[in-house]
Parts: sequence; C-alpha cells; structure tokens
Amino acid sequence: MSKVTVVGAGNVGATVANVLAHKDIVNEVVLLDLKGNMAKGKALDTWQQAPIDYYSTKLKGTASYAATRNSDVVVITAGIPRKPGMSRDDLIATNAKIVVSVTRSILQYSKNPIIIVVSNPLDVMTFAAYKASKLNSKRVMGMAGILDTARYRAFLATELKVSPKDIQAVLMGGHGDSMVPLPRYTTVAGIPVTEMIKKDKLDAIVQRTQKGGGELVKLMGTSAWYAPGAAAAQMVESIIRDENRIFPCAVRLTGQYGIKNMFLGAPVKLGKNGITEILELKLNSDEKKLLRKSAKHVSNVINTFNKMKLI
Ligand code: NAI
Ligand code: 2OP
Repeated sequence: MSKVTVVGAGNVGATVANVLAHKDIVNEVVLLDLKGNMAKGKALDTWQQAPIDYYSTKLKGTASYAATRNSDVVVITAGIPRKPGMSRDDLIATNAKIVVSVTRSILQYSKNPIIIVVSNPLDVMTFAAYKASKLNSKRVMGMAGILDTARYRAFLATELKVSPKDIQAVLMGGHGDSMVPLPRYTTVAGIPVTEMIKKDKLDAIVQRTQKGGGELVKLMGTSAWYAPGAAAAQMVESIIRDENRIFPCAVRLTGQYGIKNMFLGAPVKLGKNGITEILELKLNSDEKKLLRKSAKHVSNVINTFNKMKLI
C-alpha cells in the first residue's frame, strides 16, 4: 500500500498527480489545495481518465490535511509562480510562509514521510521544509535538476537531430541562472557530446538552459508545468519502486563538494528511504568555481529566509 500527497493543485501539482496516476505505481494520490473544490475537480477529472488510459490509481481531491494521513511521499507545489520580469527569488516572501505552514500541517498527519519540494525559490524552500519538518535530511529533497537537465537534453536533441532518449546528462548547483550544466558528463548514446557539437553551439545551449525557466515564463505569462510535473513524478517513482535511479536533486550537502548545511543540486541515488547516496563527481577547477558561485547565490537567499524568522 502506498500513498502520495501532492500539495497545491495548480498547474504543477495537478500535473504531478496526473502523471503519477498514469504510472499506476501507488494506491492513492491525494491532491490538496486551499481551493478544495478545484482539487476535487482535478482529482475527479484524472480519475475519469483512468478507463481511457488504463490505470487503477485512486485519486482524492481535498482541502483537509486529515485526508493526507500516513502519506509515504509528499510533493509540495503550493505557492505562487513567477510572472514575466520576476526571478524565482522574488517569490520568497510569499512562498516561504506557505511552505513552512504546509510542511507543519503535513507532519501532523504523517510521521515520517519523504518530502519532495517543488515550490520556488527551490533550494531555499527545500531548506525551509527540512527545517520545519525536522525530518532526517535523507527524506527531504527538491525537484529542479531533472527539469533543468531535461531542458538541456531537449535542446541538444533538437540541435543534433537525435532522439532525446539518447542524451544522458547531469547538472549541478542551484535552480537559477547560476545552475551548472556539465558538458564533460554529457553523452549521446555513450559518445561524449563534445565530440558531436562545436563549442560555440554547446555554450549557447548551456546558456539557454540556464535561462530555460524564464523563456517559458515569457511565452506563457506563468511558469512551466508539464516537464516540472513529470520530473517530480519521476522522483516519486524511483522512491516508491526503490529503483535507486540517479538524478540531480536539491539535497542537503554536509561537506560534499566543500559545501555544508545548505540544499543544492547534486547527483543522488533515490530509493525507498529517500536519498541513498550523494555522488561526488570529480569536478575540474572551472566547474568547482561555477558551483561555488551558485552556492553563494543560494546562501544569500537562505539569509533572506533566515531573516524572516519563520522557524
Ligand atoms: P499555480 O498557481 O498554478 O498553483 C499553485 C497552487 O498552490 C494554487 O492552486 C494555490 O491555491 C495553491 N496554494 C497556495 N497556497 C497554498 C497553501 N497554503 N496550501 C495549499 N495550497 C496552496 O502555480 P504552479 O505553476 O503550479 O507553480 C507552483 C510552484 O512551483 C511555484 O512556486 C513555482 O515557481 C514552482 N515551480 C518550480 C519548479 C521547479 O523546477 N522546482 C518548476 C515549475 C514551478
Ligand atoms: C522553471 O524552471 C519556474 O522554476 C520553474 O520552470
């Protein structure tokens, strides 16, 4: 028996619930939102898709935390998304309060869940959920790296005229323009990407990836949801099926890469107890410099969060 709660039934949360339902790997998905009727409606709509797409995942929409009791995994997507001209960091004043209060409410009904944070600014909201939950840090993580890597892989697939399926990549750092794509660790069907693309083209793709979220905000007036929702659902799947898949996730670093006491994107194994292992890649000096710069950026936003004195 497994149960997953998704908090926030907006664009991203409803997509997480819908993608998870299709995977048919959990018994129940609870979709919770302040707007209870909207959560109920989206849960019912996804349930009515079941006879067409063939899955048995039960869905429940609610505004009541009692319905989340004994969740194995909780995905937090509650909070405002950015509008054109805003950075993810501009969301902190609103979203920090939401993430702290949602986490506390969840913990009243589920003693030891695994929490996946999606709300922005991602690395700091994951830190906030960790602090508010007092859970073991292996059980609290943020979704960003899978999405950022997927954007990078999709751009490469278009440029190289290959299937996105054949592109493997890893990316590190914070979920912001200072994220650190790692071309040295990018392959196309096993072939190093650097052998398949000219440096100026690859550099342009790296830059487009770093601003990938903003590109979609400009197009849609709000942030993305299909790829983000699918990315969070993929993390849930690796946990529920105890797959130990390796994904870049925002995790609490305790000295890895010379960084401590903050959440930042790094490659990890994800299994039934959460983060099974944080992998330490041998970064070169340029990559280390970029990672330190990204960590500095996240640490400034942590300072803003700490000054809010919510915890
Ligand atoms: P949305 O506005 O469509 O949905 C947010 C939902 O949260 C709304 O339905 C709202 O009623 C609900 N909500 C607000 N406060 C709540 C509370 N206290 N309890 C329960 N529900 C509450 O926004 P969208 O597009 O789904 O984005 C959600 C968050 O995810 C944003 O902060 C956005 O920046 C972030 N995001 C992060 C990504 C990542 O890669 N980590 C990717 C895409 C979005
Ligand atoms: C994204 O990258 C807004 O963080 C969100 O699409």
